Amino acid sequence: MKVVIIGAGYVGLCTGITLAYLNNQVTFIDVDVKKIEKLNHGILPIYEPGLKELYELSKNNLHFRSDYETFSEADIAFITVGTPIRSDGFADMSYVKDATYHIGMNILDGHTIIINKSTVPIGSADWVKSLILDAYEKHNAREMPGKLSVVSNPEFLKEGTAVYDSFFPNRIVIGCDDLNVIHKIVNLYSPIINQNFVPPAFLKRPANLASVPLIKTNVISAELLKYTANSYLSLKISFINEIACLAEKVGADITTIAKGIGLDERIGSEFLKAGIGWGGSCFGKDTAAIIATASDYGIDMPIIKAAREVNYQMRDNILTKILDNLKIVKGKTIGILGLSFKPDTDDLRDAPSIDIIKKLVAMGAKVNVHDPVVEEESIRQKVDNHEFKYVNKIEEVFEKVDALILVTEWKIYRNIDWEKMRNRMTNKIVFDGRNFLDENLLESLDIKYVGVGK
Ligand code: UDX
Repeated sequence: MKVVIIGAGYVGLCTGITLAYLNNQVTFIDVDVKKIEKLNHGILPIYEPGLKELYELSKNNLHFRSDYETFSEADIAFITVGTPIRSDGFADMSYVKDATYHIGMNILDGHTIIINKSTVPIGSADWVKSLILDAYEKHNAREMPGKLSVVSNPEFLKEGTAVYDSFFPNRIVIGCDDLNVIHKIVNLYSPIINQNFVPPAFLKRPANLASVPLIKTNVISAELLKYTANSYLSLKISFINEIACLAEKVGADITTIAKGIGLDERIGSEFLKAGIGWGGSCFGKDTAAIIATASDYGIDMPIIKAAREVNYQMRDNILTKILDNLKIVKGKTIGILGLSFKPDTDDLRDAPSIDIIKKLVAMGAKVNVHDPVVEEESIRQKVDNHEFKYVNKIEEVFEKVDALILVTEWKIYRNIDWEKMRNRMTNKIVFDGRNFLDENLLESLDIKYVGVGK
């Protein structure tokens, strides 16, 4: 099929390159001319394991442009532009609006099926449709003769494993009332639904995955489903973090508690890792958006509000622990391991590291930071004028530190030669914000270990 992806961001690239690997002709359209230029030269704007390899395998089916010239040939077009959070909690739909204008100017009589894949407010499919029809009418001086379909097909990709998730999703959700349109979309996804494609060599199909469940529903349910999934995952993490705060006080171990409750099939073991909480592009934005939408209908969302409150409190909690231990941080040197909101990505959106750096610097600490992937320029942009030192080598972050905080659980941090590193530390104390390091090893080396919820 001929597929257009509008917005060569995270979701767009992962979705589009996967579809190209599955033998579709995929054209990316992005207003960012420089990004398109880079993509045409094989340079990906994001770090995502496996994506570059997939790009190389699929490049004959990939096209990148910054105009809509060939749009009309597309069978299916995905809108995957960013929908960042506005200060009032609602999603900023200006990029989506922009895309609808161009679609309306270029679509041929409703030929192309339009899919909303960006996480958009409930009711957006109808809104997108009306904007496209308006632009079409303006451009053609007549109503669109064909039937325009705007479908909701939310993504559930996790950064760091997005390529895997694209090929082996837990489910595919299609929100649409038109059977013919559903049929075409099912066709597009059929290799994934039926798991009858040969995966790229670097990806192993999960054992026993014979097919992927397909949820067909109306547009509104699909849109709300996405918010519900992310809200639920957010609150699962905040729930375990809330219990972690109590566990810490009473002398229990949250990792054992999480394991114990996770074995109950009704609860499940995923998303019960206690720590400094969630960050990233989705949970914060989507929980704020569902609360904002609900308030339009006079509905309070106390559970989701509490999930947010607990989450952001966890970032302060680690600072409180540092103060409890060091007493004074002014003039002290604090090392930070990990900046991205989670490992295997360079994404800094809503990353706990940003708040932690800002607060430590504001309290007068000298902060040294390290991350295996995040670039200095990116983190500098996020922490405004706050002064800190970015180091390239892990050992430099240990240099004369009065405390070390692990913020992101990058694998390489577990394999640090702690015996060697401990000699560089002025004060041998590590705050493990992800319960990730080998507590026994550190304590055997006389390094004080402070985890979360234990
Ligand atoms: C999330 C959803 O999982 C995905 O379905 C959606 O499409 C986009 O948002 P992502 O933000 O990439 O994906 O990462 P995810 O793996 O869900 O982790 C989100 C945050 O939660 C990270 O900061 C992670 O460190 C944190 N987390 C996750 C925990 O603190 N504890 C856990 O047990 C799991």
